[in-house]
Amino acid sequence: LLVHSARQIVQVVSDGTLVKCGSAMKSVDILQDTNGTGYSILVDRSGNIADIGTDAEVRARNPDLEADTVMDATGKCIIPGLVDAHTHPVWAGDRVHEFAMKLAGATYMDVHKAGGGIHFTVEHTRNASADELFSSFKSRLEFMRRAGTTLVECKSGYGLDLNTEMKMLKVIERGRDLDIGISSTYCGAHAVPKNKTSEEATADILTKQIPELERLMADQALHVDNIDVFCERGVFDVQQTRRILEAGKTLGLNINFHGDELHPTGSAEMGADIGALAISHLEEISDAGIVAMATSGSVGVVLPTTAYILRLRPPPVRKMLEQSMAIALGSDFNPNAYCMAMPMVMHLACVILHMSMPEALNAATINAAHALGVSQKQGSLEVGKLGNMVVLNTDKWENLIYKFGCYNEVIDYVVYKGKIV
Ligand code: NIG
Ligand code: FE
Repeated sequence: LLVHSARQIVQVVSDGTLVKCGSAMKSVDILQDTNGTGYSILVDRSGNIADIGTDAEVRARNPDLEADTVMDATGKCIIPGLVDAHTHPVWAGDRVHEFAMKLAGATYMDVHKAGGGIHFTVEHTRNASADELFSSFKSRLEFMRRAGTTLVECKSGYGLDLNTEMKMLKVIERGRDLDIGISSTYCGAHAVPKNKTSEEATADILTKQIPELERLMADQALHVDNIDVFCERGVFDVQQTRRILEAGKTLGLNINFHGDELHPTGSAEMGADIGALAISHLEEISDAGIVAMATSGSVGVVLPTTAYILRLRPPPVRKMLEQSMAIALGSDFNPNAYCMAMPMVMHLACVILHMSMPEALNAATINAAHALGVSQKQGSLEVGKLGNMVVLNTDKWENLIYKFGCYNEVIDYVVYKGKIV
């Protein structure tokens, strides 16, 4: 029996399997119910996990407990809420025609140079109102949440001018009122606008956009967490990227950028050098880049949907893991890679990137939270962390990854800060 209530103390009772993501990538901590007593998670009224253990332990430790809501998860698994470490969720315009072009053999850069790709989306996003953008953004967040995501990184980057970039960041800011965690990223350097050179675009970002961002953040109108640049041959080069990222760092933003995707550019080496918290893509990372990131502790955010859709050589994840690089996963949801479901991303990570299922789950929870600088509060089921979890209709959590595209069948419900959402 499931008692659904918006009241705040929530106890999830499970006599199935409790998956707890620890720091060791290769394994997940499983509290396995063998004697039929079941496990419980207690979430307090602030939305934090107050206790975890067998039902008996939790009751013994909280003798006066009268939970506002008790949810019966008998026979089910509980995993931490999934974390999507890389998305572009605010935009207008439909690019399905480009999918057809790519299937017929056009590369990502062929489409981009022909004025499509990011440029197509920029034109539509500039013309859309903030309310229109918020409406589709909200639906996308709700879809992601139904697929188990409780924290999502959200980038700007389809404005490429001061007004539209700030409009996008304000739309992302409105997402903070919804029942899903948001990590907001300024990505004004996502492409070079059609009327500018990359040097002119860099100057515009450094002298106009970042100062305005600083002002809006000081006024508390925006709470931006990260700064991103598309570091790529023919977009922003390594030196321009470094200047933009360092300017963001002085505002207190985490450095988290696109690098070494289509060509080896030395993005990983540069990012490690300036203390990047995370670098995404990395299909073309060099061996020296892997060592540099492992040494600096920068997280590699790998995006299997991109390699899959663009038929790229996938990032060398096995090599990265052998060198002890931290790996996280993101959906890269955007008009090129239209996928919002982290269970599908984990499946692709296993099949295409040769990750094991525990590695994929760690990469889509605790390590993704670390890539966003919030692993002390999110990404695993531990006392003191947010009560974000996914309750699965199965006694084996791996079904969430195995049943490709069938996550609706596997997910019973999603809990955000102790509330069913
Ligand atoms: O992460 N590589 C750059 N940015 C996106 C694609 C954005 C787009 O095509 O609209 C990515 O794949
Ligand atoms: Fe991206």
